[in-house]
Formats: sequence, C-alpha cells, structure tokens
Amino acid sequence: MSARDRLLPRRSVLSGLVATGAAGISGVESASPAAAPIPVRQDIVRLPPQRLASLEAAIGEMQRRSRRDPADPKGWRVNALAHTHVCSSVSNADLAQVHGCWWFLPWHRAFLAVTEWKLRALSGDRTIALPYWNWSSDRRIPAPFARAGSALADAARYTPDRDLLAVEVDHLSFDPLRASLGVAALEARSFPARTPDAIPASFGGIAKPNAAGWHGHSRMETVPHNAIHNYAGGEASDGAVGDMTELARAAFDPIFFAHHGNLDRLWEIWRQDPARKATEPTDRDFIEKQFLFPWLDGTIIAVPMADVLDTQRLGYVYDSLGVLRDGLVPAADAIRPDAARRRLASALLRVPSDAMRCELRIHGVQPGDRPLSVEIAMARPDNPASWISVGAHAMGSAHGPAVFPDTEPRFDVTAAVRLLAAPVVDVAVLPLALGVGQQSWPPFRNTGMEIVAADV
Ligand code: C2O
Repeated sequence: MSARDRLLPRRSVLSGLVATGAAGISGVESASPAAAPIPVRQDIVRLPPQRLASLEAAIGEMQRRSRRDPADPKGWRVNALAHTHVCSSVSNADLAQVHGCWWFLPWHRAFLAVTEWKLRALSGDRTIALPYWNWSSDRRIPAPFARAGSALADAARYTPDRDLLAVEVDHLSFDPLRASLGVAALEARSFPARTPDAIPASFGGIAKPNAAGWHGHSRMETVPHNAIHNYAGGEASDGAVGDMTELARAAFDPIFFAHHGNLDRLWEIWRQDPARKATEPTDRDFIEKQFLFPWLDGTIIAVPMADVLDTQRLGYVYDSLGVLRDGLVPAADAIRPDAARRRLASALLRVPSDAMRCELRIHGVQPGDRPLSVEIAMARPDNPASWISVGAHAMGSAHGPAVFPDTEPRFDVTAAVRLLAAPVVDVAVLPLALGVGQQSWPPFRNTGMEIVAADV
C-alpha cells in the first residue's frame, strides 16, 4: 500500500451514495510517493509542543469554520454530528445505532480515523495524529485540554474537582488478578456476545442486527466508557450538563477523541493476545460492513471494516500498548467507600455458599434525566472498616430516543466475597460527584439486587 493510501481515505464506490473521498483537496494528490512513516498517536502528556500546536491549529480552524457557517462540511460541527446521528437521534433498536452492540468499538475507530484524515487534509500536515488521554494514569483532564483559549478546551465542561476513581477507570484494585490488568475489561475472553446473557462480559458486544433485537452494553461500554464521559462533562449547579455528559453533544468536545483514542488503544492491547483476537467475528455481516461519514467536500465516504480491523490501513499506530504509562500504578484513591457516605440504594445480600464465581446483579436500573455515576461497594455488616469498592455504573443524559441499554449491570464479586468471608454482605450504591460541590443526586431506580453463583 502506498503512503498516500495510508494517510488518506480510500476511495470507495457505493452505488450513488459515495463520491471521491479526499481527491482534489489541496495538498492531497501531491503527497510524496516515497514511503512516509505511519503517523503515531501519542499520549497527550508526551505530545511535543509543536505537534500540540499543529493539532490545536487544525481543530481551531474546523471550529472557526462552524462558527461562520454551521453547515460547513469542513467544520467541526458537521463532523461531530456524525456521532449524534448514530447515538442520540436514533433508538437503541434502530439499525443505525452503534452503541449497545458490536459496532461500538469499530464505529468509533472509524470515526476517529476520518476525523484525523480531515485534520490532515485541511492543515496540510500529514503527520497529525489524535493524541489519547490515558485516564488509567492521568485521573484528571490533561492540562492541554484545559488551557484557556485552546481549541482543545472549546467545549461545555463542568468537570468535578476530584480525581477519577479507580472504579470509574475500571481498575479493580481489591482483586489482585484484575488489578494486574490495569483495566479489568481486558479480562473479557470473547469479542462477540452470542446470547444476551453474555453481553456484559463480552469485549465487543452483541451482533447487530440480531434476530431477537437484543442490545446491551459490552464490558467496556458502561465502565470505563460512560463513567469517563460523565466525569469529563460533569453537571453544573444549575442543572446544565457538559458536552461529554450529553449523548447528543459528546463529540463536540475535543476530549471525546482523546477518550475514545484510549478505548481504541485498549482494543489494540486486548487483541495482542492471539486467542482473543481470534474471537473477532468473521460473520459476513461484520467483515463486510462499511461505515459512512460526511467528507470535507460535502460527499459521503465509506470506511470498510477490512480497514477498521487494521489501524495501519486507517493511517495510525499507537506509541505504546501498555495500559499504564511506564507501568506505574497510580496512588490509591483518596476517597474511600465507608459507612458514612450517602447511599442511593443498599441491601443486605446472602452470599451463595460454595460458588466458584459470584456475581452481583442489579436488576431493572432505569436512567433518569440527569447524569449519574455510582460506585458499588460491599462490606461485612459487622465491620464498617471492611468496605471494598467492586465497580461502578454510569449513565449520562440522553435527551432523545436512545436510552442506556445497560439496565442489568453485573459485577464479578468473587474476590470480594472471599475477602469479606461473611454469609451476608452489606451492598451500597454510592453516588459520585459530577458537579462541583454536588449535594443532590437523581434517584438510582432499580427493582432489586442479588448475589448469584455464576458459571465460571
Ligand atoms: Cu459514541 Cu463515547 O460515545
């Protein structure tokens, strides 16, 4: 493949719908035929200043275009709306909806790549690559995204004044086995879920379409994905929510691309294991899929799945496939679950005896009209010093037909109940602040919870 093909959208022919990709955009056809290195997506904290400046200039130019003309196909808004159209403006059951099914990781990968191609084409800097936010290591919004006046800070954000908690970034430190993964979702052994029951434990989610119309969040989608959206967007004291917290506006915030960059990188980390990669679907529906995006000249381009499954064909590689930067484990959370914290729900639950694996299941969770992130913790009823944080659940605000398809969250609590060694445990749902000084939370609606013996 030529360097040009690597850096730019491939021309696609899709009866009538698709025009000619990037051809004709200034600087594109004159790309040197000599092999150019594949652009490297870097950790934002390691991005050299001149590369950061180039990225800011390119994103800033797209934002300015949208301010002048909201319909400008070269603008940031038109690009961001591509996400709105497959997110909040279609219901979970709609075939165009890419969340809650196995299009979640591939679609966002294609969207990031197309955005990157646009930034390269518009700026003439063919080395631009979207940096990622390694929230496993950096539990606050990285400084370049917060610098006043920067294009990267041009977004509605009400980020709470606290670090992301370990449970929000899916670092389950109470369980040595899963803590060693850095992000517990990496333990998922299969990309697809073949039954609705298997969706929460799968890395990639359920087929879409599927005969029964199932949908639901795969292992990464609620946590860490939603939890970090909620943190980055936050909620203001007057009830306004940030771009990242509101489905319809999430991709307006440049940090969306750094957040999804890290999720995309985790996919690459996960698939380094050949046995896991081998589970990626070979179904024709999957490998022959094409994703459509608006291009800079107002036409539609198609990104074929064959490219999505190979980042080099999309035109990028990552600087590192380590979960934690330099392998350094961040300090333990400053906030700990304890008996004194407000509870949105709680229950005394019996622990099944002799179970090889125990799962905490919360039933009938309904999203409200405000974003909500909660930590799930358990303790021995007779020992308030024994609280362990076993996971989180997070729902943003969706003012549209899409809702959060994760109404039956499950948590593997095998290690936790072993540690607590009690026949009955106290389980609490603790709200996490998403606003500065937040004191009130929407209710956590659910129909019950239980701990069950699960299949190994
Ligand atoms: Cu399409 Cu992070 O959401």
